[in-house]
Amino acid sequence: PSRYRTVHLQQAKDEGRHFAMLTAYDFQMAQIFDQAGIETILVGDSAANNVMGHATTLPITLDEMIVFASSVVRAAQHAMVVCDLPFGSYELSPEQGTASAIRLVKEASVHAVKMEGGSRYAEHIRMMTAAGVPVMAHIGFTPQSENVLGGYRVQGRGDDAAARMIQEATALQDAGAFCVLMEMVPSEVARQVDEALRVPTIGIGAGNATTGQVLVWQDMLGLRSGKMPRFVKQYADLRSVVHDAVTSYVQEVRSGAFPAPEHGFES
Ligand code: KIV
Ligand code: NA
Repeated sequence: PSRYRTVHLQQAKDEGRHFAMLTAYDFQMAQIFDQAGIETILVGDSAANNVMGHATTLPITLDEMIVFASSVVRAAQHAMVVCDLPFGSYELSPEQGTASAIRLVKEASVHAVKMEGGSRYAEHIRMMTAAGVPVMAHIGFTPQSENVLGGYRVQGRGDDAAARMIQEATALQDAGAFCVLMEMVPSEVARQVDEALRVPTIGIGAGNATTGQVLVWQDMLGLRSGKMPRFVKQYADLRSVVHDAVTSYVQEVRSGAFPAPEHGFES
């Protein structure tokens, strides 16, 4: 399709196909992902960590998300761009959430929003969807609640956890969510949730039975340093590519090898 839309993600689910999502926060990377054929791009509030250097996702503001999101939208010719509602921009009421979602559509031209949290946000989803903004729900581990959840840990383990997660996901679907994203959920639980839902699912650390998969690009391309979560597969080692290139540049500038005659202009 010339533009991936919610209907195409639904078609993937209906036809038993999978689709891919990556985060992006800027024009250049979003353009590469789009040209590589990715179906969906997430402007995640993980920009707080991965772009801004914060320790958590909590400090990023709606105004900051709008800068990142509008940059990504300008690059995405085919991908559907979904933008996170950041911490503090929706919790107080469906009206607060809908006003924030409308700002993301109006000021950044995103195609959909994503919101962390379970069935307590059903009314939010109803109001946003009625206003014309498709909503992706995000359950399982929700980083904005890490101080309540007790850190980064798998959610939905233990007796009747699957049943409870199916109940939550179904409530979000019934409220109008076009897709349900699950983070750090046992693979078997995520499989059962996907099976119970009519709408597509996306997983991160949730096994391979979800309709779609998402990863943070700095993780999957190896730009970020430090310990990777278990669910990350590193497809490249950009950190060493960039480190080695910059080391060469610094050496060549110091030695005078760069710039060479061909990099200069004749009089
Ligand atoms: O902000 C983000 O990157 C996310 C994904 C990890 C799902 O929400
Ligand atoms: Na997020």
